[in-house]
Amino acid sequence: MRPELSSYNHLAAGKVREIYEIDDDNLLMVVSDRISAYDHVLDTEIPDKGRVLTAMTVFFFANIDFPNHLAGPVDDPRIPEEVLGRALVCKKLDMIPFECVARGYLTGSGLAEYQETGTVCGIPLPAGLRESSKLPEPIFTPATKAELGDHDENVPFEAVVEKLGEARANELREATLSIYKQAAALAEEHGLILADTKLEFGIDADGKLVLADEVLTPDSSRYWPSSDYVEGKTQPSFDKQYVRNWLNCPKAGWDRNGMAPPPSLPGSVVEATRERYIEAYERISGKKFTTWIGSCA
Ligand SMILES: Nc1ncnc2c1ncn2[C@@H]1O[C@H](COP(=O)(O)OP(=O)(O)O)[C@@H](O)[C@H]1O
Ligand SMILES: [Mg+2]
Repeated sequence: MRPELSSYNHLAAGKVREIYEIDDDNLLMVVSDRISAYDHVLDTEIPDKGRVLTAMTVFFFANIDFPNHLAGPVDDPRIPEEVLGRALVCKKLDMIPFECVARGYLTGSGLAEYQETGTVCGIPLPAGLRESSKLPEPIFTPATKAELGDHDENVPFEAVVEKLGEARANELREATLSIYKQAAALAEEHGLILADTKLEFGIDADGKLVLADEVLTPDSSRYWPSSDYVEGKTQPSFDKQYVRNWLNCPKAGWDRNGMAPPPSLPGSVVEATRERYIEAYERISGKKFTTWIGSCA
């Protein structure tokens, strides 16, 4: 018999995920259909988004050579029926208090810092780089996790060393860059550029570093279609761009810098965004997205 969701203790709610305790060693991570844009969680959900992100995370855990927190399959009997497909059983970890970001291209907060100082997280970069320029090699640009509604803050590598010691900081940098390179190579095979990605790690009971959270989803990573890539301009992101464009439209009547929450999304924007999330998964994994979870046995 599968348990009910209510049989587990609800531990925490993130922007997108709900976390429940299965036992002393394991968590149930349930991915909702919530979507955030410009650091706001929108009041409109994108149907199946949680399933797509779950499938994408499972795909990368299977294809990336690094220990991860997965503690069971997608149809694990500990997963309640009502969240099957959008939930994973994970090893409970002591989370590292940094977002481990790898960047292969210059955009977003990296570009903003570079334009001001010529560096990203204190790493000096060659002069003359532009929006979306490819970096000479991928860089590790850690950030501190912001409270709900705030921006994450980029920090220099020394801040990680200070908090966690040199050995762990070096291990995090190497792990982040190795995982980024593996994923970027996979994405490239499918005609996508992985511009950057944000990873989270935790420490297990044996003190070992383990890859946690969601991995390499469109919510934590920037994927750009290689065929449309042009240096010097903003690349259309694969999925959220549609939502962002709509929110920026005068028709939406929303001031991004004001105090008001973003408006609800119209049905056409919801449907187009849903299709893009599914397309991202299908392109990267080479698999067909299905809402059916089970075995043929
Ligand atoms: N294996 C794990 N053990 C403990 N906590 C985890 C594990 N994997 C992920 N987390 C935490 O669970 C939360 C996931 O919820 P999410 O909605 O993504 O939150 P956020 O709004 O912080 O991004 C994050 O705080 C993440 O650090
Ligand atoms: Mg998160």
